Amino acid sequence: MVSEGMQRRAVALFWAFVAALLQPSMADVYKVGDSAGWTTIGKVDYKQWAATKTFEVGDVILFEYSPQFHNVMQVTHAEYRACNASAPIATHTTGNDTITITSHGHHFFFCGVPGHCQAGQKVDINVLRASSSAPAPSTLPSPSVPASIVPSPSPSEAAPLLRASSRLFCKLWLVVAVIGAIV
Ligand SMILES: *[C@@H]1O[C@H](CO)[C@@H](O)[C@H](O)[C@H]1NC(C)=O
Ligand SMILES: *[C@@H]1O[C@H](CO)[C@@H](O)[C@H](O)[C@H]1NC(C)=O
Repeated sequence: MVSEGMQRRAVALFWAFVAALLQPSMADVYKVGDSAGWTTIGKVDYKQWAATKTFEVGDVILFEYSPQFHNVMQVTHAEYRACNASAPIATHTTGNDTITITSHGHHFFFCGVPGHCQAGQKVDINVLRASSSAPAPSTLPSPSVPASIVPSPSPSEAAPLLRASSRLFCKLWLVVAVIGAIV
């Protein structure tokens, strides 16, 4: 027979499990350029920096720089390609700017100080649809989805899938814990 104490523990674990399923995944904070920050010094390869990250909706992009020398402009794709700073979507100038990503797709940023974008101080934050946060068990990607999204898997392209599967693993582990407590 199951003791009252065990029943209470099982109920508590069950609700912890439900809460874990419902809670949105933790947002990550990505500091652009990592320790180098947002700069023209040292020819930081921001394209390479972004390629090693798996951005998700809700993540925070942090631009850290000296506001005396740089700024952050969010621009359209055309403006990004042309380093055209005449009509930015948004301009940030604090030197410690946090931008929360609220949608999938590309988010283009560059430094609006003349010459800096041309020198490579520009970054494209691309939020892939496949990396949508906290998939519910019923909407887990089917095996055919990764194949169509990742035609030639490379480490950076495979990362969203790895992350999704590690989250799934955590949830499965919780299921096992709950079942273990009940049995
Ligand atoms: C820069 O962008 C603005 C607004 O998008 C546009 O009107 C202008 O023609 C562009 N200038 C150049 C040099 O491309
Ligand atoms: C940037 O701002 C955050 C709070 O938004 C603060 O915790 C952090 O210390 C600031 N960093 C710098 C370098 O000012």
